[in-house]
Amino acid sequence: MKLAVLISGSGSNLQSFIDDCARGALPAEIAVVLSNKPEAGGLARAHAANIPTLVVDHREFESREAFDAAMLEALAPFAPDLVILAGFMRILTPDFIAAFRSRLLNIHPSLLPKYPGLKTHQRALDAGDSEAGATVHFVTEELDGGPPVLFARVPIEAGDSADTLAARVQLREHQLYPQAARWFVEGRLELCGDRALLDGEALPASGADLDTI
Ligand code: GAR
Repeated sequence: MKLAVLISGSGSNLQSFIDDCARGALPAEIAVVLSNKPEAGGLARAHAANIPTLVVDHREFESREAFDAAMLEALAPFAPDLVILAGFMRILTPDFIAAFRSRLLNIHPSLLPKYPGLKTHQRALDAGDSEAGATVHFVTEELDGGPPVLFARVPIEAGDSADTLAARVQLREHQLYPQAARWFVEGRLELCGDRALLDGEALPASGADLDTI
């Protein structure tokens, strides 16, 4: 199966995919890495792994629609079976989502449905939550609102800042995201209406818990 990984930043999640593909833990090939930022650190990770890269800079387009159309055109020759949003920080248009419907995954740094959008860790701290986490979900038109697949909890510790919490959550993301992708690559995971199914059975509304699978 061919993956396209979309990034905007450091690409630590991309690295977990590169590593898992290389050691055979994820039976897939990363066909291409696309960044909307030419300076994204993840591009160097892709180069180091000899993965083709694309830069489609959103600042060069007049509209979201034109940017997304350019991404679709750039990705088309790679014919990805699964598109992985790994810290890709642009909101996608319905046309882009429709083109990859049922094969578009995102990772969001909160226990969805809590804290869609930005500054998730600070919001969890401000609310006095005892735990934070991350969730992998299918992407639909609703921002961070598509059916959850798999989540990991991370306890909030006394003295945590948004940065210390984000760092611990990211370590868990690197286990969580390739595991969800593995289910898809193995043909076990599918999107059916507004639910994610694993082995033909609906997953819980908040996804499966990485600690109990
Ligand atoms: C990750 O923590 C991911 O959950 C988050 O961006 C980070 C990217 O890190 N994604 C979002 O906030 C999506 N709204 P990385 O570039 O090191 O993988």
